[in-house]
Amino acid sequence: MEKIVILTGAGISAESGLSTFRDEGGLWAQHRIEDVATPEGFARDPALVQGFYNARRVQAAKVVPNPAHRALARLQRDFPGEVVIVTQNVDGLHEAGGAQDVIHMHGILSGALCASCGHRWTAPPEMEVDEPCPACNAPTARPDVVWFGEMPYHMEEIFDHLASATIFAAIGTSGQVYPAAAFVHEAHAVGAHTIEINLEPTGGGFDDHLLGKASETVPKWVDRLLQI
Ligand code: OAD
Repeated sequence: MEKIVILTGAGISAESGLSTFRDEGGLWAQHRIEDVATPEGFARDPALVQGFYNARRVQAAKVVPNPAHRALARLQRDFPGEVVIVTQNVDGLHEAGGAQDVIHMHGILSGALCASCGHRWTAPPEMEVDEPCPACNAPTARPDVVWFGEMPYHMEEIFDHLASATIFAAIGTSGQVYPAAAFVHEAHAVGAHTIEINLEPTGGGFDDHLLGKASETVPKWVDRLLQI
């Protein structure tokens, strides 16, 4: 049976109106990673970090999935094999576009996490500094997103999926951040056909490239896989 493992990055949500990180004018041109996306940054200035994620949460709630998100949901529904979507995105647009069981390796903006007891709950649109955990009451609520220096979520499950992949696709990701950037090599090692779908090649060792805007290329790729 064919098994497609798909890794998505910020580029798939760009046409929904969410900024990517490393494109010109992207989030990392406006904010320092050390300040807003590390545990040390949060310890130093929790208000700055909560403010950064509050703004992104409010923005993510306003945008809608684009044809690329919807095409992947269609692929999951209609492909006569397994389709696993792994995303580095924290925006929730795959689910809004109809995808199921999406693996959120970098967490999700709609989630809150207690840094003391590990309890998880639904984040309010704007999280406060010192917001108490509903389980242990410690004032240590943080966004349930993975920061630099922290281990991404679900790694064992993802590597298990990669070990049995027959097709691996990376969509809208620059391949700059590990461990996600290594998935193509894992998939290659087990003989999967590897394809990159992006505005430009990232040099990641793919068998194939489909270049252009995700909203156009992803539906075409899905049509091809479904032989429409
Ligand atoms: P990047 O900003 O690094 O890369 C975005 C990629 O999307 C680039 O390769 C662009 O060429 C491509 N792209 C932009 N617009 C596109 C479009 N309309 N169609 C297709 N491709 C497009 O974002 P990520 O690779 O997702 O982690 O970044 C990976 C991680 O780095 C993020 O999850 C985040 C960040 O720091 C954390 O915060 C932990």
